[in-house]
Amino acid sequence: MVLHPLHKLKEASVEDVLIVTGREHAGDMIELLGSGEEFGVNLTYRIQERASGIAHALGLAKGFARDSRMLVILGDNVFSDTLSEYVRRYEQQPKGAKVLLASVSDPSRFGVPVLSGNRIVGIEEKPKQPKSPYAVAGIYMYDDGLFDIIAGLRPSGRGELEITDVNNAYLADGALTFDVLQGWWTDAGTHASLFAANQFAQNVSYSDWDDFKPSRRTAQ
Ligand code: G1P
Repeated sequence: MVLHPLHKLKEASVEDVLIVTGREHAGDMIELLGSGEEFGVNLTYRIQERASGIAHALGLAKGFARDSRMLVILGDNVFSDTLSEYVRRYEQQPKGAKVLLASVSDPSRFGVPVLSGNRIVGIEEKPKQPKSPYAVAGIYMYDDGLFDIIAGLRPSGRGELEITDVNNAYLADGALTFDVLQGWWTDAGTHASLFAANQFAQNVSYSDWDDFKPSRRTAQ
């Protein structure tokens, strides 16, 4: 599944990629991806020792990102849109962050935006009564203000540094924009969505996906 976000990053012209992974998956990840040479990307790895949250994992990117802006994709997000146009719009904004929304039938599984007209006025993490039919997708764009925000976060009730708290901090600063994904999106966090993601991956026809896949492995 990691090949999917990697392909999406490359498609959006991101070639320096940091992979943050748990210790238990690190060996398999490096065995599959190596330096990234085979895929036309430069890979760096960081290990997240404990499940301390997505925002904590992002904090591990501090030395890697230095002052530059970042495009972040969660490894379990599978989607059809090309990200280039969203990145282009983000680059035009003077500072801050951009999130992408996906229309879903079960928003309470996700971070859910509260909308007023065409503005996000808040994001609620896994609300029992979602205030919109959208999920905040696990595709984010951040500037280097990210690391100060993460440094000020407190763990949530589930003991994690929440990405939704990061996005709400940008929002409070008037520096969060959004776009809505036009195509198919899922996070493969349930058996049903994992099944759907697999079907998608089998049926999808990316223009350069066949070149991107490590053929010697998929042939096995
Ligand atoms: C995480 C985020 C959530 C977001 C989702 C997207 O959820 O916390 O805001 O909507 O990813 O995939 P989690 O995977 O932790 O349940």
